Amino acid sequence: MRKPIIAANWKLHKTVAETGAFLNAFLPEVTGIDDVEIVIAPPYTALLSATGKLSGTNVTLAAQNVFYEERGAYTGEISPAMIKDLGCAYAIIGHSERRQYFGETDETVNKRIKAALGHGLKVIFCIGETLEQREAGRTNKVLKGQLDGGLTDIPIDDIVVAYEPVWAIGTGVTATTGQAQEAHAFIRGVLQKKYGDKAQGVRILYGGSVKPDNVDDIMACPDVDGALVGGASLEPDSFAKLVKFRRSQK
Ligand code: 13P
Repeated sequence: MRKPIIAANWKLHKTVAETGAFLNAFLPEVTGIDDVEIVIAPPYTALLSATGKLSGTNVTLAAQNVFYEERGAYTGEISPAMIKDLGCAYAIIGHSERRQYFGETDETVNKRIKAALGHGLKVIFCIGETLEQREAGRTNKVLKGQLDGGLTDIPIDDIVVAYEPVWAIGTGVTATTGQAQEAHAFIRGVLQKKYGDKAQGVRILYGGSVKPDNVDDIMACPDVDGALVGGASLEPDSFAKLVKFRRSQK
């Protein structure tokens, strides 16, 4: 059984005060839910305040990224030990926005994953094709390349994969259930070749314009084990609705 994960990636949103207001409204909405792992990734600046509010709750804290060095002259970077210190259990690594705007490559993603795992963090490892790559029929090749590159010499146990087609992020265009299931099954197949039957236990999340009105259909796909959500995770009511997706279908 793969326990579903519904994860919020707040990206560049929310001050400390806004984070507090969100959690005050959100936490009572999800009290007692234990059949889904609920994860929230605020910006770094709100992690410390969030960790206090989340202690003893069923909501887990994540960082949106992490650097691979432990210390040194790396202005602006944050180490795995630092985010662990703030109570993060997960780090999101390899998000397409990191790849697109901040020069991340499969190689740097691989280094970040190694460093995070080395400090006892779990990783939400993001992959996904652009529209151009999809239209050129290269989706599977791109996904396989990102999986091979990002996971070089890495055990799969503490990795969650997030499939986020770049063309579906923040656009309101969601992958069809057919497209999502096809990509997720392909990803699981690649993992099966690399890791054998452990692949059956790996959670693969879908990300890209997940909203309360499409989450049930997405979550009904057999190889979709959760969602990584941007825009619709910013309002407590909307994110609580996502956490309460229809269970009967799983
Ligand atoms: P949206 O839900 O806003 O499309 O963002 C998805 C995403 O990038 C989550 O990491």
